[in-house]
Amino acid sequence: MSAGPSFLGVAIGPFEPRSPQATAIAHLFESALLICGAVFLLVAVLVVYCVFRFRANGATEPRQVAGNTRLEIAWTVAPVLVLTWLLVLTSRAMSASDPPVDRDADVTIIGHQWWWEARYPSGIVTANEIHIPTGKALVVRLESADVVHDFWVPELGRKMDATPGRAGSLWIEADQSGTYAGACAEYCGLEHAWMRILVVAETPANFAEWQRHELAPPRPPSGELALHGAALFGAMTCIKCHSIGGISSARFAPDLTHLAERSTLGAGVFANTPADLSRWLTDPQAIKAGCHMPNAQLTDTQVRAFVAYFETLR
Ligand code: CUA
Repeated sequence: MSAGPSFLGVAIGPFEPRSPQATAIAHLFESALLICGAVFLLVAVLVVYCVFRFRANGATEPRQVAGNTRLEIAWTVAPVLVLTWLLVLTSRAMSASDPPVDRDADVTIIGHQWWWEARYPSGIVTANEIHIPTGKALVVRLESADVVHDFWVPELGRKMDATPGRAGSLWIEADQSGTYAGACAEYCGLEHAWMRILVVAETPANFAEWQRHELAPPRPPSGELALHGAALFGAMTCIKCHSIGGISSARFAPDLTHLAERSTLGAGVFANTPADLSRWLTDPQAIKAGCHMPNAQLTDTQVRAFVAYFETLR
């Protein structure tokens, strides 16, 4: 892992593409940077040269020039050529990073204030942490449940707005196994900054194993505290927003079926540890102000029961 911006130890880097789609975009950026840098240098050098060469010395009027046809043709044709070159590079990068979508989505990702929902055709539902097989270009169908969000995992593909009422499609692919960080890249309200997503790319065999595991409901809780937590989950309002496979199917808030397996919670705002989960359940607004999870005024015993139960959701 290289130095540079990172999120929970996962590097975020548009300059370190890890897929053919992201590589095309990174190459376009580098080419455009070089071309524009050369133009900037040329202009800067000419300006500095002229400042010194034609500096006013005395009150004599400078020589008057009516025009220079050759020079005018040159400074018209040169920018046209440069822009045409950039246009060709851009359309080549677009067709490599964003090929037409001619098949059904491999995963549907839905932006919510402030988390990501992921639904696979197999029936798997998860949040903020998606798994993909390596070496396979996947079609992501992008939707929004409320306002405009923007899905971006820079190492794996292009960024795209998630617009309410208008689904989009983008390609995502990973050459190698690893965990890749992404974020919402469009200001979408108070907790926009905490709308992260992790993409876990794994070998097709491991991905198949993950799918098999995710499709199975979690093992029923055992132990007095965990059983108490499960009973509370059904009795309190949690069940109106959160789903747990086999128990509830609400879609307003992140699916909790395999909650204990996620590495972060709150769309990246804290690591998934029993201690942080307790803090979260005690007062979500203290950790992610403005999020739609209210403070349920839980007692310490209730918090411990919930944590014990949630730790069984594997
Ligand atoms: Cu969602 Cu910013």
